[in-house]
Amino acid sequence: MRARAALVAVAVATAAWLLPLAATVGAAPVIERATQGERCVEDTASMRRYHMRFLEHQRDATVHGGIRGAKHSLKGCIDCHASKATGSVAQAKTDFCVGCHTYTAVKIDCFDCHATRPAAGHASATEAKK
Ligand code: HEC
Ligand code: HEC
Ligand code: HEC
Repeated sequence: MRARAALVAVAVATAAWLLPLAATVGAAPVIERATQGERCVEDTASMRRYHMRFLEHQRDATVHGGIRGAKHSLKGCIDCHASKATGSVAQAKTDFCVGCHTYTAVKIDCFDCHATRPAAGHASATEAKK
């Protein structure tokens, strides 16, 4: 009986010690799996590091060069990464773009103009948002 009580005490002490650790791990960004496509437009490691550059180049190519439907289009990101639950990349705080950006304290204004969810049919930043 006494041994058992001691064991419980140890277990409780250990749990208390582990709690802060668990809280830290729990704060890591929730990165939702893509809902479409086998793979990203570049390998995952490159996407993690360089997606902002790809997007920037794509914007320049589209807005200044008139090139559309290309590999790094923002519309493409949203088609594949919109959440199953919300249908958006930036509505709930666990949605793909927002989830990671909140964690890394990144703020983007892209969705002031661009839709955060896949468009039914044709749509662009100049048309209805969301
Ligand atoms: C054809 C579908 C598709 C398109 C288009 C696409 N992705 Fe992905 N993306 C994926 C898949 C699949 C993965 C691998 C991880 C997963 O399954 O979610 C991934 C991974 C990523 C990752 C790494 C996530 C992690 O786990 O660290 C980032 C960041 C990313 N994509 C951003 C983008 C951006 C930005 C765009 C637009 C320029 C884009 N993706 C376009 C399907 C796509
Ligand atoms: C003030 C409104 C506005 C803001 C803010 C904005 N865009 Fe755009 N963007 C546009 C318009 C308008 C177009 C051209 C029409 C279109 O293709 O949707 C465009 C086109 C694009 C394209 C090429 C089309 C596509 O879907 O790939 C990309 C890429 C792009 N923007 C990325 C971004 C990114 C990344 C941000 C945030 C850093 C951003 N934009 C912020 C208005 C905006
Ligand atoms: C795996 C985590 C992660 C995911 C998922 C992610 N981002 Fe990012 N994003 C970052 C980080 C980290 C930065 C800041 C990088 C830096 O400043 O070097 C960033 C920066 C950006 C920037 C540049 C912001 C600036 O002020 O320069 C844009 C634009 C951007 N992300 C768009 C997107 C879009 C659109 C999605 C969803 C399709 C997305 N990101 C998903 C981590 C992520």
